[in-house]
Amino acid sequence: MLSELLLTEINRPQHSKLPLHRQLYEALRRAILDGKLVADERLPSSRELTQDLHMSRNTVVAALGQLTVEGYLVSRVGSGTYVNSHVPKPAPRRVHPPTHQNSPLSHRGQSLSAQFCASDLEVQPFTPGIADFSAFPVALWQRLQNKHWRMTYPDMLDYSSAGGHAPLRRAVADYLRVFRSVPLDNEQVIITSGTQESLGLCAQLLADHKDTVWIEDPAYWGAVKAFMATGLQLHAVPVDEQGIAPQPHDSLSPPKLIYVTPSHQYPTGAVMSLARRQQILSLARQHKAWVLEDDYDSEFRFSGPPIASLAGLDTEGRVLYMGSFSKVLYPGLKLGYLVVPKALAAAFKSAHYDLNRPGQMPLQAALAEFIDLGHFASALRRARQSYALRRQSLLSALQPCLGAQARITGAEQGLHLCMRLADDVDDQALALHIRKSGLMVRPLSAYCVRRRDSRGLVIGYGYAPLADIERFGPVLARTINQQTGPT
Ligand SMILES: Cc1ncc(COP(=O)(O)O)c(C=O)c1O
Repeated sequence: MLSELLLTEINRPQHSKLPLHRQLYEALRRAILDGKLVADERLPSSRELTQDLHMSRNTVVAALGQLTVEGYLVSRVGSGTYVNSHVPKPAPRRVHPPTHQNSPLSHRGQSLSAQFCASDLEVQPFTPGIADFSAFPVALWQRLQNKHWRMTYPDMLDYSSAGGHAPLRRAVADYLRVFRSVPLDNEQVIITSGTQESLGLCAQLLADHKDTVWIEDPAYWGAVKAFMATGLQLHAVPVDEQGIAPQPHDSLSPPKLIYVTPSHQYPTGAVMSLARRQQILSLARQHKAWVLEDDYDSEFRFSGPPIASLAGLDTEGRVLYMGSFSKVLYPGLKLGYLVVPKALAAAFKSAHYDLNRPGQMPLQAALAEFIDLGHFASALRRARQSYALRRQSLLSALQPCLGAQARITGAEQGLHLCMRLADDVDDQALALHIRKSGLMVRPLSAYCVRRRDSRGLVIGYGYAPLADIERFGPVLARTINQQTGPT
């Protein structure tokens, strides 16, 4: 019976807040879409529906009228109201759940969504890549933001076509000249929403679909995804103690882009040697390729001054340098910078505008003042001091795990270190086991693209306060020792 069907639908809780005519409309529409009322079927008259459903005539007429206007029903003069003959047949019900083959995603979408699970990003004391946001001077930031919102003029609310707010570009350029030895004009700086956007922009503007990008192996997965998303072919080049180590056979896959983290390879922590830097620049010249330098954490160097950038050695304008405020300030700020060779600056600014519609001018103005007033430098100083203590505490806690088969790399800089383990250790199982004790570290093999010989744990010390590192460091070390046995 139609009236029973309609009343069942009307009584569903999700409809209870709708006016009655809308409830009837939804019930009839659902019956048509589900094929319970079929094309050309005649509906009971409005008087019959009024009686069967115990609704007012106006309610019924309003619902039928709306369905007629929307084309679900047609009224035929002198004959009554019918389901429109053009109403599409309902799709056959799926018997099986969707499988990988019939995923609604493109092939690219499937591979982008397949690797690296979001749960791996859970923030725990030793999660790598996470800074201590609790140290961020919120009250001061709020004051600066309020000030810049008060001063905001209408243009500041528009998108920015100039590569970002000029005072911020200038502040970044000053910082990079002094601390990172990057030779540059302010015009070469483009403010982006972080390294992820900078990478995407470089891939979109400097390489074509199916061009090859050389990536480090193991690699930063954010970069891997940015390149996959732009349809580039990934060519993994193994990393050794001196950073990326291209061999003659790698040139059989000539690169259009070479992505590197020379100051502190992510995740092994290797510092690229001068010889390797020169080799990379020379290979870039030979292949007419661009080098993408991701300088994500060089602000935090604990022994000696920061390692100079690769961009500083580039005499031919082949290196694009990128940095981020995610580590020194906080990641949700979503601000970073890209330094492009002079010849590319105008093209990058206009394409960035067209592709990404950059904005956030009041935020950029507040950040420029934050830097100009010296707050960035003091945040950095404080962070460096406190990370140095955390790092030291973690290193001491891990000492009992070290031996012939286990050693630490990359602890001179940044917010994480890498504990290298013997090639036969199942680091994924070990990381899982550690997780059961409530701690989170990442297996080194999970960052490997092609190679199968890198085993270890990537352990962060940026996020947790010193007290937590002192408390949980020994727990972590004990669990590692129990699982890997004497080294
Ligand atoms: C190697 C590397 N590059 C860049 C970033 C920062 O990227 P973004 O500016 O997109 O936050 C990270 C963050 O973890 C990183 O590990």
